[in-house]
Amino acid sequence: MDRLLIRGGKKLQGTVRASGSKNAALPILVATLLTDEPCVLHRVPDLRDVRTTLKILEYLGKKVTYENGTVTISADGQLKNSLPYELVKQMRASFWVAGPLLARFLEAEIPLPGGCAIGVRPVDIHLKGFEKLGATCEMNAGNVILRAQELVPSKIVLRFPSVGATQNLLMCACLIEGETVLENVAKEPEIDDVIDFLNKMGADISTDDKGRLVIYGKKTLHGAEHEVVADRIESGSYMLAAAATRGDVTVTGCVPEHNAILLEDLQEAGFTLTVTNDSVRVHAYDGDIKPIRVRTAPYPGFATDLQAPWMTLMCLSDGTAEVDEDIFENRFMHAPELVRMGAQIVTEKSVARITGVKELSAAHVQASDLRGGMALVIAGLCAKGETEVERVYHIDRGYENLEEKLTSLGADIKRYNPEK
Ligand code: EPZ
Repeated sequence: MDRLLIRGGKKLQGTVRASGSKNAALPILVATLLTDEPCVLHRVPDLRDVRTTLKILEYLGKKVTYENGTVTISADGQLKNSLPYELVKQMRASFWVAGPLLARFLEAEIPLPGGCAIGVRPVDIHLKGFEKLGATCEMNAGNVILRAQELVPSKIVLRFPSVGATQNLLMCACLIEGETVLENVAKEPEIDDVIDFLNKMGADISTDDKGRLVIYGKKTLHGAEHEVVADRIESGSYMLAAAATRGDVTVTGCVPEHNAILLEDLQEAGFTLTVTNDSVRVHAYDGDIKPIRVRTAPYPGFATDLQAPWMTLMCLSDGTAEVDEDIFENRFMHAPELVRMGAQIVTEKSVARITGVKELSAAHVQASDLRGGMALVIAGLCAKGETEVERVYHIDRGYENLEEKLTSLGADIKRYNPEK
């Protein structure tokens, strides 16, 4: 399996362009199941999770091409309405095909997504919503079997603003005639991008003055063309890499307001930023990095997906910082690896206390999940000497052209496979 060799201690310099958002591209690709007409999607990042989703669409019966960031999807005969465990176990987001398949066929059989490194990650909110829409949910040998005589419009209050449940229920409701209202929904920018795409397909989705999603379902939806929004988590990760290496980097092609809290916290920590409508420049800063307390929360709160890269920056602060991970129950797996690189971190349940150190030292570490892996890469970029990061496949799920982008910023980073 691939590893990354990083010779750290260099300040990142230059400009890097954000890729399309993984967490918008995945649900938008799934939303193409709602129509048999061709769809064209641009700025789709070349990531493991995207490739897995394209495989799922092909398994279900779609014809797919993918070239230079553009995906074309068209019907290729009758769609299947079930997925094999093989595919679902690779990526939790594959469960989001449930909504479109239930809406189209009144029956879907999807393996329950297992948990993953960062938590159990149940789908109870999804299933309760489907029941409110008139479906029965049965469990059989690890699969969820959703069935409905007829799907009915409904008013659904999510007990927690789950991103995936919001998207799953939203896609299902698009084909249920009548008015469905979803309350306490996730407000992540990726949801807006999915809504934008669904409305281009002829759906009728709006947000009322209470922030609820109001969907008037249609009999059918048509094909559409769409460019995926910039990836705010990738953008934020590069801003944090710039800050941690004391570099001077401009992230272009991004949506700064999607990183509003991160930009505020970076400035509070002492960094100077130049922000335009589609770029953020982190200026070189050699002063003390102030320890800032962050707690993760649903958007627009501090993004849980940036918690790990942020922790790496706080390892270099001049005091004691605190990180509260309030979204996932086990999202500090990068902490012990950072400690092996000289960081001082104590975790207790959902709180990590970080006492800043002057510098980190290179080590042989391993990634346990996508964003924790990026935290280790950033630490390797800061640490003098050669850091080796194992299980790079985690990182390949969410960072397009990682080495190329970091090399263009002056990093000394190589990918190699010891088995080859
Ligand atoms: C999406 O996951 C993202 N993935 C995650 O990004 C992100 O961390 C997460 O939203 C939160 O922002 C994609 O968009 C593909 P949730 P999702 O449902 O939808 C609990 C990354 O690094 N929950 O909002 O699975 C759940 O256990 C990935 O790019 C229930 O209890 O997240 C978790 O604690 C990691 N029951 C919390 O809610 C449910 O039915 C948030 O989960 C659903 C969720």
